[in-house]
Amino acid sequence: MTDKDFHFLVESAGMAPSSDNTQPWTFSPGPDFIDVYMVRDRLLAIDVLDMYSFISIGAAIENMILAAGIRGLECRPDFSPADALDQKNDSSQSLIPVARLHFTPADSVSAYPAVTFSERHTDRRKFSTRVLPDSMIKELSGAAAGSGTAVHWIRDIDTRKQLVGIDSVFSSILLSHPPLFDGLFNTVKFSRRKLLSDGWGMDIKSLDLPFPAAIALRIFGSRSLGRIIARWGVGPLVAKGLSERLSFCGALCLVTAPGRSRRAFLEAGRTMQSVWLKATELGLSVHPYGVITQYLHMAELEPWRFTREAVATIKDAKPHFSGLFGCPETRHPVMILRLGYGTGRQRSRLTVRFPPEKIMTAVP
Ligand SMILES: Cc1cc2nc3c(=O)[nH]c(=O)nc-3n(C[C@H](O)[C@H](O)[C@H](O)COP(=O)(O)O)c2cc1C
Repeated sequence: MTDKDFHFLVESAGMAPSSDNTQPWTFSPGPDFIDVYMVRDRLLAIDVLDMYSFISIGAAIENMILAAGIRGLECRPDFSPADALDQKNDSSQSLIPVARLHFTPADSVSAYPAVTFSERHTDRRKFSTRVLPDSMIKELSGAAAGSGTAVHWIRDIDTRKQLVGIDSVFSSILLSHPPLFDGLFNTVKFSRRKLLSDGWGMDIKSLDLPFPAAIALRIFGSRSLGRIIARWGVGPLVAKGLSERLSFCGALCLVTAPGRSRRAFLEAGRTMQSVWLKATELGLSVHPYGVITQYLHMAELEPWRFTREAVATIKDAKPHFSGLFGCPETRHPVMILRLGYGTGRQRSRLTVRFPPEKIMTAVP
């Protein structure tokens, strides 16, 4: 692997999506491998088992595997460092080893369009409600790359509306509970200059919040606004407005994993990303929804984060939620993607990334 290969692979990986755009990854080159590390400083305070950071890194690895093909290389991921983490669990290191990617010369060069990495983005606007055809669902499902993962679909309008109902209950738990609300908005940046100088986090504009909500967030800050929402009891109303967006799409995709191991989350990230990239190639818009799946795990594993009533509500909703997607209850839901035909109004991407040099590390 040449320096040029390594640069291209890291640049491609860095374009992957990450929860709140934290980009919790760094890459270290070897002669014919790349070690992938999770950066402890960039982990979210509220992310059960660091699930969303592992999913994000899985997405970055998927980009790297596809990018390797473009450079005439075959990439074989080895997730045993992640398995080792499951054994030890806690560690004080700032860089946490997650995977080693082995590269060998491939028989041919892949024609995968590299531009798909940069074209893929999160679109939080309403999409057309035109249902995606069977042929597209087949193609999207066929793209799922992560081993042991599965994708489950909702398309009809009534079922979508039932999911809106579940999401608004979960979002209202989020909005009425200041610690959860803070966790969500801590990474939001109000000025483009700040976003560009930090290189990570989310532009307030990319959230596509209703104008009054964006202004209120700017004036009061997430902490005070969370408390105001909780005090005035308007959480359910605001949540209903936000959740409505879930019904404006052509399909909803649930990614599930066979377990809660780090490897399972990395593989789920590969699946999320491969479906998202395929959707981008097909000209579809995509919006990931993390709250429901995060809380289903959190209510079981970290119930102390919620009120007792909220834990009961979340646990009661689980069978209904799985039933809507026709997903066996033994599977672990990890991510929902809302997919659909965009409404045509194109807007520039509003995300930033660390430059490749910042996510390369020389680890002895
Ligand atoms: C694991 C994961 C969870 C995410 N959860 C949400 C979510 O709940 N809501 C949302 O609007 N975006 C969510 N996102 C999208 C990220 O905010 C987005 O990928 C990031 O800001 C970078 O922007 P980009 O996708 O446009 O490149 C999630 C992304 C990942 C990888």
